[in-house]
Amino acid sequence: MRLEQLDIHDVRSIRETRLEPGPSLNLLLGGNGAGKTSVLEALHLLAYGRSFRGRVRDGLIRTGAPALQIFARWSEQEGVRRHQVGLRHAGSEWQGRLDGGDVAQLSELCTALAAVTFEPGSHALLSGGGEPRRRLLDWGLFHVEPEFLPVWRRHARALKQRNALLKAGGANAALDAWDSELASAGEALDRYRRAYVEALEAKIERWASELIPELGSAQHTYLAGWRREELSLADALLVNRERDRQLGHTSAGPHRADLLLGFAARPARESLSRGQSKLAALALLLAQAEDFRARRGEWPLILLDDLASELDRGHRQALLTALVTSGAQVFITGTELDALELEPAWLATMFHVEHGVIRPA
Ligand SMILES: Nc1ncnc2c1ncn2[C@@H]1O[C@H](COP(=O)(O)OP(=O)(O)OP(=O)(O)O)[C@@H](O)[C@H]1O
Ligand SMILES: [Mg+2]
Repeated sequence: MRLEQLDIHDVRSIRETRLEPGPSLNLLLGGNGAGKTSVLEALHLLAYGRSFRGRVRDGLIRTGAPALQIFARWSEQEGVRRHQVGLRHAGSEWQGRLDGGDVAQLSELCTALAAVTFEPGSHALLSGGGEPRRRLLDWGLFHVEPEFLPVWRRHARALKQRNALLKAGGANAALDAWDSELASAGEALDRYRRAYVEALEAKIERWASELIPELGSAQHTYLAGWRREELSLADALLVNRERDRQLGHTSAGPHRADLLLGFAARPARESLSRGQSKLAALALLLAQAEDFRARRGEWPLILLDDLASELDRGHRQALLTALVTSGAQVFITGTELDALELEPAWLATMFHVEHGVIRPA
């Protein structure tokens, strides 16, 4: 995907600005508080329907403005296909447009535009709880498996209903019905995720060996969220039912799935440093971006917030070299150009961001 135009209105401190990026490396440079992260956040919002910095009502809309508006135009397959999306978000309600028509669901916008984002909070992908890793797997599946979203929705609905029944002390007959639906959707969800993790395996290893060779080869384990080798999800739900009634929620199932990433040189699951966690997170994100490209024939946009302050020189150069040769369109924010130490051959397009306005530099 090649972003050609991004218009941003009333996102954080940005009142109104436009970005017309170059085809490869795009650098957004400016001082602290200039609005650089907000530009990536606007793009991320179009691609995910959510911000990576909290909820919309936590200040995503510029103070005093009634709503934010974002518009993006991009091309695919060397310009053969063109798309455009627009989003207006007023805090509680939103309106979306895709290629000139209204959209009924935010997910339609998110299907159209794909981006992977690496930001200062991305270390949580490796060092925190399982939710961001489940989200990562589901994001990938959402884009590469057209049948995945209905299954995901069925599972989410059944889980919600079962939890509500557990909390309310519902009758066993009512629970039986939701258990059966949850088991059927949950087993399907698990099959998708396992197949996806298998497809990512070699790519994760390759990116990890490129970005963090000092940790040795990457090994991952996918956990289904229940003791899948021993019993079906339907049986697990039944076995846990009394305990779940006491807890007031479902204790085991695909909503507790996880993807554990380990490294040969860290056999005892010793915790990684913050920088190492970030590099491992990058390996995961880029493996996913590469899988997207293999299946869809396009790279997603790659958004890297505050790269220089996150990675040391050697790791940053390894990453940038790999990205420049990949052919992906990349957006990098930073406070100083010198800190990025770009190679002259890389042909980066530079922008200066100041007081929420983007200017070509
Ligand atoms: N709702 C809002 N309305 C107006 N301004 C806001 C709002 N939310 C945040 N801001 C301001 O937007 C500015 C831009 O923030 P942003 O995080 O994009 O800057 P940045 O260029 O990434 O800075 P840094 O280099 O420190 O990461 C900040 O000064 C922030 O205080
Ligand atoms: Mg920032």
